[in-house]
Amino acid sequence: MNTLNIGLVGYGFMGRTHSNAFLQAPRFFDLPFKPVLKAVAARNEDRVKTFAANWGYESYETDWRKLIDRKDIDVIDIASPNDTHREIAIAAARAGKMVMCEKPLGRTAAEAETMVAAVESAGVPNTVWYNYRRVPAVTMIKQLVDEGKLGRIFHYRAKFLQDWTISKELPQGGEGLWRLDVAVAGSGVTGDLLAHNIDTALWLNGPITEVTAMTETFIKERKHNITGKVQAVGIDDASAFLCRFENGSLAMFEATRYARGHKALYTLEINGEHASAFWDLHDLHRLQYFDHRDEGRVRGWRNIHITDADQPYMKHWWVPGLQIGYEHTFTHQFADFLEAAAKGKSLPPTFRDGLATDYVTDAVLKSGRTRQWEKVAGAPATVA
Ligand SMILES: NC(=O)c1ccc[n+]([C@@H]2O[C@H](COP(=O)([O-])OP(=O)(O)OC[C@H]3O[C@@H](n4cnc5c(N)ncnc54)[C@H](O)[C@@H]3O)[C@@H](O)[C@H]2O)c1
Repeated sequence: MNTLNIGLVGYGFMGRTHSNAFLQAPRFFDLPFKPVLKAVAARNEDRVKTFAANWGYESYETDWRKLIDRKDIDVIDIASPNDTHREIAIAAARAGKMVMCEKPLGRTAAEAETMVAAVESAGVPNTVWYNYRRVPAVTMIKQLVDEGKLGRIFHYRAKFLQDWTISKELPQGGEGLWRLDVAVAGSGVTGDLLAHNIDTALWLNGPITEVTAMTETFIKERKHNITGKVQAVGIDDASAFLCRFENGSLAMFEATRYARGHKALYTLEINGEHASAFWDLHDLHRLQYFDHRDEGRVRGWRNIHITDADQPYMKHWWVPGLQIGYEHTFTHQFADFLEAAAKGKSLPPTFRDGLATDYVTDAVLKSGRTRQWEKVAGAPATVA
């Protein structure tokens, strides 16, 4: 079997989820390549060395450019903050490497466009880590929608609620807090949280054509960890929008880091003519499903435990009734990426799919400023 040598950039939260996936995928899936954890790059030598030893990387670098120059690396995996994605992805594509990139693809759609051009002109397999598509219950909603079981779709609604930035004493910038620094993150909850909701929605329900949004920065100034000065906060703390889909359905989306009591509440609901589906990240192995065509006397919301072998991905794991969790979504995406790459193909969500999400987040942020409906670039005109 051919080996596939991985070069990872970044050893933070996502560096760990990806490394776990690289190790688990060959144990649970029949893969066309044997993944090899060849090297990890990050700037702090002591920490990158420890990370490499813990996770079994053969070597480390303190500059990602070295990783790209190495002839023994086949795929570059970008798990570093948003301001690094563009430069690393373009350099990797130019060097002929496959590229896996964390979300959001770019800080703006303009950045993402250059990344799409780079991977497509180099012809290298690529994917963006919008991992929630590969929660088995979410994948099953996609199957049900594609089979027409829901019928014509009328409504889509999604939210992503957190509460970790409510304190005004919390600084911005630097390790762990780069998400509050607009120069690094690009935006606040729109690019960080809504981007997940939007990617899943585009996949399940097709293109979004226009949006009208409301954004707010509740804490206007915070100390910056790198400059030491109190500086204006440039990110959106909360973002909500209404939109129309190309298929004529209407939708509502909301994300915030100010919903006290919520840590990572991603929920989505889709209402069709015949049936509705609901999913909640805090109960991620369950799909709630209502089918109006059931016999009236027993009609009601079904709470389906997605653990059977005929449900998405589950034949690779344990026995019926035993569930899996968050980390498995990355394992699924990596296993699927290797299948696609073996055929010379990219894996959805591709860089082009990541760009589609960036077009929507750009329109949301623009509408938050203009207080007007905004068209989504690259989307077809609204039919309804
Ligand atoms: N798919 C998801 O569900 C999900 C969840 C969290 C984060 N993310 C995305 O993953 C990316 C990383 O987020 P995180 O939570 O892992 O962040 P993190 O702060 O935990 O880790 C970031 C890592 O990048 C490294 N880094 C920073 N600048 C670098 C540079 N110039 N060269 C090399 N390494 C550098 C840091 O040292 C750190 O190891 C972001 O784009 C974020 O939006 C995605």
